[in-house]
Amino acid sequence: MRRGECSFFFYRVTVVRVCSCADFGTWVLWTNTKERLMSLHVVDHPLIAHKMGVLRRKKLPTKDFNDLVAEITALLLYEATRDLPTEACRITCWSGRTTVRRIKGRMLTFVPILRAGMGMLEGAKRLVPGAKISVVGLWRDHETLDPHEYYVKLASDMSDRLAIILDPMLATGGSALATFDLLERSGCRDIRGIFLVAAPEGIARLQAAHPGMKIFVAAVDKRLTGKGDPYPPGYILPGLGDAGDRLFGTK
Ligand code: PRP
Ligand code: URA
Repeated sequence: MRRGECSFFFYRVTVVRVCSCADFGTWVLWTNTKERLMSLHVVDHPLIAHKMGVLRRKKLPTKDFNDLVAEITALLLYEATRDLPTEACRITCWSGRTTVRRIKGRMLTFVPILRAGMGMLEGAKRLVPGAKISVVGLWRDHETLDPHEYYVKLASDMSDRLAIILDPMLATGGSALATFDLLERSGCRDIRGIFLVAAPEGIARLQAAHPGMKIFVAAVDKRLTGKGDPYPPGYILPGLGDAGDRLFGTK
């Protein structure tokens, strides 16, 4: 992809390569309006591309599916936390006193959306073991595709925390949107989302409702299933299938 314009989704976007460091390349797609609105970071890296290719295989054993979800989550989180501020501090190392850097006063909470988001928690905690976990339980009505809340337990002091939503799938966007709204009502001011696969429909919906949100994805797929498709409605194509079932071995 080159710097330039494309009509990738339903609206026109400007594609800018923002990072070309040795280890990561990230594509950031901004909507082409007078203000820069929601940023969609499609993390473009050979390791992620390769692991996503394996993850999409139909016959992947449950354990391998879980391991890959954890690894890809960690790689996406690396990018989602790139702008965290750091500060200098003094420590004693083997050769005496030295100055190192640490993350500056930023409290973080991971927000896995039950159930499938739980599968991403292991990978996220590997990178930030001290993060508090805020759990949001939603189930999606198979007919209306609307999310229904059944459990919420948030960390304390949400207004002081960076909240990172974890869910493998951004399909219609209903679950992510409900979670974002709930976090905003709890006082959160910096809310980001990490998804493995996103549908253009879900991205557009989040964009319209929460222009300030930053989302980080491993892949943007073609579309959602609908009438005339030989699959249930509201699934991402080509997608992963039912991510919760694949993570928990329930089908
Ligand atoms: C899946 C997925 C998301 C949601 C995405 O969960 O993990 O939470 O669907 O769809 P949306 O963008 O259209 O809201 P599901 O409700 O199937 O529950 P599960 O995680 O328990 O399988
Ligand atoms: N939920 C899933 O698990 N998969 C999809 O493709 C869409 C919603």
